[in-house]
Amino acid sequence: MATVAGSSSKKTILVTGGAGFIGTHTVVQLLNGDFRVSIIDNLDNSVPEAVERVRELVGPQLSANLDFHIGDLRNKQDLENLFSQTKFDAVIHFAGLKAVGESVANPRRYFDNNLVGTINLYEVMAKYDCKKMVFSSSATVYGQPEKIPCVEDFQLMAMNPYGRTKLFLEEIARDIQRAEPEWKIILLRYFNPVGAHESGRIGEDPKGIPNNLMPYIQQVAVGRLPELNVYGNDYPTPDGSAIRDYIHVMDLADGHIAALGRLFTPSDIGCTAYNLGTGRGTSVLEMVAAFEKASGKKIPVKLCPRRPGDATQVYASTEKAEKELGWKAKYGVDEMCRDQWKWASNNPWGYQSKK
Ligand code: UD1
Repeated sequence: MATVAGSSSKKTILVTGGAGFIGTHTVVQLLNGDFRVSIIDNLDNSVPEAVERVRELVGPQLSANLDFHIGDLRNKQDLENLFSQTKFDAVIHFAGLKAVGESVANPRRYFDNNLVGTINLYEVMAKYDCKKMVFSSSATVYGQPEKIPCVEDFQLMAMNPYGRTKLFLEEIARDIQRAEPEWKIILLRYFNPVGAHESGRIGEDPKGIPNNLMPYIQQVAVGRLPELNVYGNDYPTPDGSAIRDYIHVMDLADGHIAALGRLFTPSDIGCTAYNLGTGRGTSVLEMVAAFEKASGKKIPVKLCPRRPGDATQVYASTEKAEKELGWKAKYGVDEMCRDQWKWASNNPWGYQSKK
C-alpha cells in the first residue's frame, strides 16, 4: 500500500461523510496507507455499522488510528470541537446530499447541507490554519457536454439544484484560493462510482428506493425490486441506451490518496480540478448484461422514456489525473460487477438485517 511520498511522520486527515459509500472505501485506503483518520458524519444516508466494518477490514492495529464523530457541518460547534482537539493536516470533504430529484423538490435542503455545511468547514479550517482540501465534485458540473470526452477546462453548467451546489462549491473554492494563496484545494470530479470493496464487507447502501443505476440493478438481483426501468432506448448510441463512465469505488478511493500526495508536495498547486473516471463509456444495457454475467441472475428490464435532464453520452478525459496525480483506474466493468455482487449477495439488505 502506497504512503504519501516524502512524508516522514503520520499525517492526520479529517474525512467528512466518512461513513458513506465513497467515504468508507477511502478511509480503508487511508488507514492502509498509514494515515490517521477522523470521520465526521451526520448519518443522514449512512450507518455506524459501516464504520465498524471499516475497522474490521483494516484490523485492530490500524483501527487505532481511526476515530468517528457523529456531527453535522451545519453546526459549526461540531467542527470547533474537532479542530480544537486535533491538528489536521488536510480535509477530504465528502459530506453532502446527492439526489437530483430531491434537490429539485427541496432546493433549500440542498443549499443548507451542501453550501452552508461547506462554508462552515472552510471557516473553521481557516481559523485552525488547516488549508489543504480535497473536495468531492461531480461530472454533473459538465451539464450536457457538447463534446466528449469531458476535459477539465470545459465550460461548466448546472442542470438542477444539486448540480448547482457542486458548481457553486467549485467556484467558492476557486475564490477562496485566489484570495488566500496559501490554500491548496483539489476538486475531484467523480464520474459514476460503482462496485464495492473486494471483501464484500462494505458497499453502497442507499436509504429508500435507489436513484442511481447500479444500486437499483443490485436490488433487482437480490429480489428487493421486481425489474429495472431503463430510461431511454432511443438515444443515438449503438444499443439506444445512454452511456456513462462507471468507475470502481476502490479506484476512486485510490484517486483520493493520489490527490493527498499532490497536496503534500511543496509545489504551488492552487485550486485545480481532476476528473476521476476510466475514460471508457458503457451503456445501460451493457451494464445490465455485465451484472447478469457476474451474478448469474436475470435482471428483468422495462424500456421506458428518457429521464428528463439525462445526457446521451458522458465520459472522462483521464489525461490530467494521469499526468499530475500519477493515478489511473485499474478496474473494468467486470470487476465492478463482480465486487458489487459479492457485497449484494452477502448483504442483500445492506448493513442492516431485513429493513
Ligand atoms: C446521476 C446524477 C448526477 C450525480 C450522479 C451521482 C442525474 C441527471 N444525474 O448521474 O448529477 O452526480 O447521479 O449521484 O440524475 N438509469 C436507468 N434506470 C434507473 C437508473 C438510472 O436506466 O433506474 C440510467 C440513467 O438514465 C443513466 C444511467 O442509468 O443513463 C446512469 O444513471 P445514474 O446512475 O442515475 O447516474 P447519472 O445520471 O449519470
